[in-house]
Amino acid sequence: MADKKPMPVHVAVIMDGNGRWAELNKVTKLQGHNQGMWAMKEIIKKSDVMGIKYLTVYAFSTENWKRSQEEVGGIFRLLVKFVGSELQELDDNNVKVNILGDWHDKLPEDAKASVQKALDTTKDNTGLVFNIALNYGSRAEIVRAVNFIMTHYDPSTEISEEDISRALYTGDENGNIPDPDLIIRTSGEERLSNFLLWQAAYSEFAFTDTLWPDFTPEEYESMIEEYRTRERRYGGR
Ligand code: IPE
Ligand code: IPE
Ligand code: MG
Repeated sequence: MADKKPMPVHVAVIMDGNGRWAELNKVTKLQGHNQGMWAMKEIIKKSDVMGIKYLTVYAFSTENWKRSQEEVGGIFRLLVKFVGSELQELDDNNVKVNILGDWHDKLPEDAKASVQKALDTTKDNTGLVFNIALNYGSRAEIVRAVNFIMTHYDPSTEISEEDISRALYTGDENGNIPDPDLIIRTSGEERLSNFLLWQAAYSEFAFTDTLWPDFTPEEYESMIEEYRTRERRYGGR
């Protein structure tokens, strides 16, 4: 314990494996997503208890629209259900919800209303910052940032890294979320799938074969403890 490094400030999670969990357990894919939602709830609580300041979860990617209408519709119904049953408790725990991604456009109306309600209810909270990447894609985010800069900056301005960071979803509009210290992906896949490409420049990665619905707070804690043994160098030494 003596030379443990600091806790991560920001942990980002690619919650993967709901479909395979469903197949393995012989239930519908939607039941897999439903089970995954409860796993997520436990990870939110655990993050809070451990004193992590920012938790970001990848809930729905810009590429996930390629899935069947039935699955996509079901995922957004689960979102509505989650906000309905959990928002009060999140608010009681001083959790602040942010959305990373374009949720104004393509989402079903009731899902948009739920998102709006979650944002409004928790906007003044000062505890755990819980970022939901929803209709999120990192390349789309960067393109959007470039377009923002082109329309809002004088053409003679020399653009800095900070300017780009501030124009991303994680930037000014959501209180300038620091880059993730640790990115966890479940289900044995070892790829980013268009998640936080810019922000992950110096992130540490941790992978587990556990399928997301089976991911427990205990495994989460042990991954964080393992992270705390790592030496981060940022190109120095
Ligand atoms: C992750 O689980 C959840 C979403 C992408 C919404 P998957 O549905 O991708 O699960 P697998 O990868 O098919 O097992
Ligand atoms: C990444 O998982 C997106 C989310 C977890 C929401 P996917 O299952 O969509 O990614 P790929 O297709 O395996 O790369
Ligand atoms: Mg997957």
